[in-house]
Amino acid sequence: MRLFIALDIPQDVRERISAYVECIRSRCPDARWARVDGLHVTLKFIGEIQDARVPEVSKALAGIKARPFDVKFDNVGFFPSPKSPRVFWIGVHAGEELPRLAEAVSEALAAIGIPREDKSYSPHLTLARAGSRGNLKALTSSVEGEAFGRMTAQEFFLYRSQLGRGGSKYTKLERFGLSER
Ligand code: 2AM
Repeated sequence: MRLFIALDIPQDVRERISAYVECIRSRCPDARWARVDGLHVTLKFIGEIQDARVPEVSKALAGIKARPFDVKFDNVGFFPSPKSPRVFWIGVHAGEELPRLAEAVSEALAAIGIPREDKSYSPHLTLARAGSRGNLKALTSSVEGEAFGRMTAQEFFLYRSQLGRGGSKYTKLERFGLSER
C-alpha cells in the first residue's frame, strides 16, 4: 500500500483555492492539475509498504505528542524555480511547530525502519505539475500576493494514495489528534 502522512485543510481554504484555480487553469490547460478536494499538507511521504505493516505505522504515529498550531496559506511559487517550473504550489506558513511535527513523524517512522527524507522539509500545497504535454511557464508571470486563509491544525492523518489515470486518489486511513496537554 502507498502511504503518506499529512494535514488536511479546511473547507473555506479549499473553496478559495478552487476559485483561484478556476481563474488561472486556462493559462496552462495541459498541465497536470491536482484535484482541489484532495489537497493536503504532506508531513512525510512513505511510499509503498507491505499492508501487514500498516498497524505498526499507526502505532508509531500514535506515540507522537504535539500541540495544535496555526497555519496560513498564502503566496504561490514553483519548484525547483520559476525559471524552470515543474511544480506550481501554494505556500504553507507556520511557526516552528510545523517542521517540528514533520520531524517528529520522521523520527517515529525511522524508529521502525522507514528511511528519512534527505531533502529539507518545505511545506506546500501542490496545485499543478508540468507534464509531457503541458508546461507551467504561462503561470510564472503575474502570480503573487495571493491569500487563501488560515487554520489551526488540530490533527494529522495517515493517508493511502492510489495512483490512477485521472490523478491520484487519497483516502484517510487514520486520524491522530494534537492536544494542548
Ligand atoms: P507533492 O504534492 O509535492 O508531489 C502524496 O503523493 C503526497 O506525498 C503528495 O503531497 C506529494 O507531494 C508527497 N510526496 C513527497 N515525496 C513524494 C514522492 N517521492 N513521490 C510521491 N509523492 C511524494
